[in-house]
Amino acid sequence: MSERSAGTLNLIFLGPPGAGKGTQSRMVEEKYSIPQISTGDLMRKEISSGSSFGEEINSYIKLGQLVPDKIVISMLLHRLDHDDCKKGYILDGFPRTVEQAKSFELALAENGSFLSGVIAITVADEVLALRLGDRRVCKKCSTTYHLFHNKPKKDGLCDNCGTPLSRRRDDEPDVIANRIEVYHQQTAPLIDFYQNRNNLYLVDGNKKIDVIFQQICVIIDKLT
Ligand code: AP5
Ligand code: MG
Repeated sequence: MSERSAGTLNLIFLGPPGAGKGTQSRMVEEKYSIPQISTGDLMRKEISSGSSFGEEINSYIKLGQLVPDKIVISMLLHRLDHDDCKKGYILDGFPRTVEQAKSFELALAENGSFLSGVIAITVADEVLALRLGDRRVCKKCSTTYHLFHNKPKKDGLCDNCGTPLSRRRDDEPDVIANRIEVYHQQTAPLIDFYQNRNNLYLVDGNKKIDVIFQQICVIIDKLT
């Protein structure tokens, strides 16, 4: 990891699949000019490259299982070494296990760095499946849309780059159900983990996208 000075904003966005981590963290990226880093996006990029490493990663993602900690931690730490992370970053979907959280804590300590806060977005399970089923994504720039709640300006095309929108392969009903189950088993314990460190900020993700964003900005403005 590159060295970071005081005044940096290092955030984690935690939440179940479909909670709106990607949607909100990208809005935060734009407003606060720090990069949004999604471990899911990093891994989908590797899969699209057609490498054998990507194939290995895909064997977990397509089933809705977590990719092994060792692989994810190494990809994430490598990404955090880039210069654009010096002023801070927003981690979207990392950590996802207590093991990942502990490794990350160690890496931060070794680097003399710190976490500014963990924003956990909560949404009822029944809402998550509806959101993911009607999600559409841009494979080129990873911008996310929803057929009803967050439509692109032109039907079926990305607002940013005009690329035709598609469905994520893990947004099939049986895989969605597995991802939600995996979240409860392996990721939800992180709520207590960060609450015990007085680092957790809960946000009600059942509201409208803009309302949630305003609440998140209030939290971030207190952290800076
Ligand atoms: P990842 O890509 O991180 O997927 P996820 O956690 O399952 O979360 P999603 O991206 O599906 O949901 P989101 O919270 O970002 O919601 P979004 O903003 O898109 O991970 C994919 C896979 O990679 C994992 O299953 C795992 O295999 C692997 N992986 C990734 N990280 C890993 C790690 N650290 N360790 C191990 N394995 C890892 O919103 C969803 C939809 O709802 C969109 O259509 C959006 O427009 C809409 N929406 C958002 N907010 C609202 C709202 N308030 N009201 C109405 N609609 C809304
Ligand atoms: Mg996402």
